[in-house]
Amino acid sequence: MEKPENIFLKKSFVAITGASRGIGRCMALKFAVKFPPNSVLVLMARNMMALESVRTDLQARAPNITVLVQQYDQGKTDEGYFNGIFDSLLTESKLSKGKAARDMFFRVLSAEEPSIRVLTYAPGWVDTDMLRDLEANSFSTPIRKLVNGLRENGEIVAPEESVAVLERVLEDNAFENADHVDNYGQTAQPYIDNFIN
Ligand SMILES: NC(=O)c1ccc[n+]([C@@H]2O[C@H](COP(=O)([O-])OP(=O)(O)OC[C@H]3O[C@@H](n4cnc5c(N)ncnc54)[C@H](OP(=O)(O)O)[C@@H]3O)[C@@H](O)[C@H]2O)c1
Repeated sequence: MEKPENIFLKKSFVAITGASRGIGRCMALKFAVKFPPNSVLVLMARNMMALESVRTDLQARAPNITVLVQQYDQGKTDEGYFNGIFDSLLTESKLSKGKAARDMFFRVLSAEEPSIRVLTYAPGWVDTDMLRDLEANSFSTPIRKLVNGLRENGEIVAPEESVAVLERVLEDNAFENADHVDNYGQTAQPYIDNFIN
């Protein structure tokens, strides 16, 4: 079988949602230097100031790519909101209720349109605003305990660590289309079981 091509070698158009902070920002910073000149990165989130700041960082690191920012709010429910932004991609993601539905949607999409390459990446437990907020402020005591236990046991990784795993998967480009790659690792399973049961 032909060896799949490293995704980062192709001039690309890349949209990163949630690019103002956390995992999305980290992905943008890492990926910007990997794609060839004249690639386009679109950074998307609600906070334009934060997006502009990420754009400035990216252009300093990778002056040969084009970085665009696009404000959008994924929480909007009015019909038509996403049309002008990203006709197909975001409109479709809006149709999916939850992550399992999104996985299913991408599987069907890749079966119907094999030229589209789809990967779902579960980043693991990553030390970002989202996780810190859950740990400190969740109304659910089991969730606060879960995150706290993970932290005490060193199960929570830095965004750079998780994005490095994604980077390798994309470079190898050997995943099955519509695959779900998971960075939670076996060590976190007891916590998840504990939480579910
Ligand atoms: N951290 C983890 O351990 C972990 C584990 C599994 C999955 N994930 C998933 O990974 C993704 C990123 O999480 P993170 O940990 O990086 O969180 P984060 O640090 O809180 O960042 C969230 C990002 O999403 C953007 N965002 C939030 N609400 C939005 C909305 N309504 N419309 C558009 N953009 C919005 C935020 O930007 P603005 O506020 O500027 O809009 C920000 O850029 C999430 O889907 C999360 O569920 C995270």
